[in-house]
Amino acid sequence: MDGCFDMFHYGHANAIRQARACGDYLVLGVVPDEEVIMAKGPPVMNEDERLCTVEAVRWVDEVMPGVPYEITEEFMTELFEKHKIDFIVHGDDPCLLPDGTDAYAAAKRVNRFVTIKRTEGVSSTDIVGRMLMCTRASSCTSPNVSEQKTQLRTFSQGLEALEEGGDEATSVSHFLPTSRRFVQFSSGKKPAPGDKIVYLDGAFDMFHA
Ligand code: CTP
Repeated sequence: MDGCFDMFHYGHANAIRQARACGDYLVLGVVPDEEVIMAKGPPVMNEDERLCTVEAVRWVDEVMPGVPYEITEEFMTELFEKHKIDFIVHGDDPCLLPDGTDAYAAAKRVNRFVTIKRTEGVSSTDIVGRMLMCTRASSCTSPNVSEQKTQLRTFSQGLEALEEGGDEATSVSHFLPTSRRFVQFSSGKKPAPGDKIVYLDGAFDMFHA
């Protein structure tokens, strides 16, 4: 599976989880900054940050940096022959090149392409929208710290933007967790007797490297 994985979110995690379930070993290709710029515009997180983040995902067996956005015939041959890849996986959303053609056309032609279900309600574009709702909070000039914090929180939930007639789709999370989804994501691992057990807490907003 390849992708940009900018501002890593649970839609990416769910895509990687499903891709891993399609086989025994998952190689994750990460598109470099210059290719992301060409295809979608500049990423928020640079290539090193995006690489470090996906390295941490439990379903990823190997990370491949510097992959092209388009699966060209030449790159496809390298994947199949040098890296012994059996098939290429992507979400069931269209993935178009700047000229409007399908980035996975070559893999589809040789029947080595598999789709997984894209997770609805989240995208990097949506997250950028939520952050744009926060811009005025960061430029808040109030010397009162608690007032600044209140404003930040209000903006991060997009409430003020909504009151002003802002776009609900970019300010409110559409995440609908089900108990089945939580089970799919959990490792099911339990500590063995005598194991040292560590606890780490945090907000983990915008999961990053
Ligand atoms: N993906 C997914 N569900 C999402 C977002 C992404 O299944 N909500 C999948 C894509 O279909 C792709 C992989 O995650 O197979 C990597 O996606 P990426 O290249 O990062 O780009 P986008 O699809 O544009 O994701 P986003 O809109 O979040 O940028």
